[in-house]
Amino acid sequence: MTGAPTQAARPRRGDELELRIDSLAQGGRGIGRRDDGFVVFVAGALPGDVVRARIGKSKRGYAEAAAVELIEASSERIPDTCVHEGEPCPGAAWQGLPYARQLEAKSAQVEEALRRLGELEGFELEEIVPALEEWRYRNKLEYSFGERPDGELTLGFHPRGSWQEIVDVEDCHLASDRNTHARNEIRDWARSEGLPAHDAVDERGVLRNLVVREGVRTQQVQTRLVTAPAEFPRPSVDLHTVIEGQSGGTTGPTGVLGEEHLEEELCDLRLRISHAAFFQTNTLMAERLYAVVGEYAALTGTERVFDLFCGIGTIGLTLAPKAGEVWGVESVPEAIADAERNATRNGITNARFTAADARLAVTPLLEEAGKPDVVVIDPPRAGLSKKVVRRVIETGARRIVYVSCNPTTLAPNAAQLVEAGYRLVRVRPMDMFPQTPHIECVALLERAG
Ligand SMILES: C[S@@+](CC[C@H](N)C(=O)[O-])C[C@H]1O[C@@H](n2cnc3c(N)ncnc32)[C@H](O)[C@@H]1O
Repeated sequence: MTGAPTQAARPRRGDELELRIDSLAQGGRGIGRRDDGFVVFVAGALPGDVVRARIGKSKRGYAEAAAVELIEASSERIPDTCVHEGEPCPGAAWQGLPYARQLEAKSAQVEEALRRLGELEGFELEEIVPALEEWRYRNKLEYSFGERPDGELTLGFHPRGSWQEIVDVEDCHLASDRNTHARNEIRDWARSEGLPAHDAVDERGVLRNLVVREGVRTQQVQTRLVTAPAEFPRPSVDLHTVIEGQSGGTTGPTGVLGEEHLEEELCDLRLRISHAAFFQTNTLMAERLYAVVGEYAALTGTERVFDLFCGIGTIGLTLAPKAGEVWGVESVPEAIADAERNATRNGITNARFTAADARLAVTPLLEEAGKPDVVVIDPPRAGLSKKVVRRVIETGARRIVYVSCNPTTLAPNAAQLVEAGYRLVRVRPMDMFPQTPHIECVALLERAG
């Protein structure tokens, strides 16, 4: 936006503007422009909508806002499927877009990130792989407890743009029936015990969150209740996490009341998953994702593979039968314990795992294991720091398979690799998260010569 709003004052937090949305930004918000061209990124708005948007953060060049009223719906909008107490599901921000349009938008965002942010060219952008299920695909949901003005306990989600309210959820269409049943049982138990929700502002009350995780193939459900420190009747959950003070999040000291580990089956592997370990939230699509990693890795049976950010070892273990040896690195010790156990129980003897920060682990791993032929990287949304990319370059691997859940961080990382002599060969977007703006893709980089 060159020469945009030098004269007009930028909007202030709480201001409401009527805006027509003309496109979707990276990350999924709608882009609206004030008459003078000032750009506003609007959560909950789709291209073609006219919305009333309430301003949140406001900067010199742009502002962020949440749609509080749909004044005129885009002609391509479809009715919302997942609605909680009249509020569109905050976990399904793109549900108003027909699925084919969601796929188009995701593919376009991957291309835009790579070409514009990464200034990359010459690669093949493969067709996006659609999800196997458009709804009820999530194997993990985190719910928050709240209270209605009359004191009734609610268990659901924060509506868009609000951190204090909770809309009660009866049936979220991202969750399976099994997940919903477990959730509603625990909410009903808590109501019958008269337990209050925790209020983060005045630090009173007990119940903070409920995490319901599921083994889709094993049909197991694992429930984890997150509370403030308090005495209350033992709940019928598998795990109980206690968090003191105002801090948000759901991670803390956890006691085991039922099943400690969740079991899942994936790519012919039987997997154990600790509650502290990452696991892809769409089980069926994770299988597809790992198949693409295998295709890009193109192993012949002899290669040394580094699996960086390996979680419970899923990628490395699916590659191990076609590799000479696999070395996994991951920072969460519980996930590494799972990875080791998962190797043993699946009869895999050529995989080794190390609990360490990837930033520090690659150099000693190179000394211990020797130069890898293939490096697989699957980092969190923030991508890799420049330093970690340098460590990856130092491995001298012929082939890098980069699994990314954020094309805007893949782009600069890939550009740094290209500068160091790699070629971005191909990229395949995959839709792991229908109804949301989240985008997964797998990129193949090869060293010339
Ligand atoms: C997107 S997940 C991928 C996990 C695994 N590859 C899978 O497919 O299930 C990213 C993983 O990186 C781990 N992680 C985050 N920061 C890390 C770091 N600095 N060093 C090593 N692992 C890290 C997280 O704990 C998480 O397990």
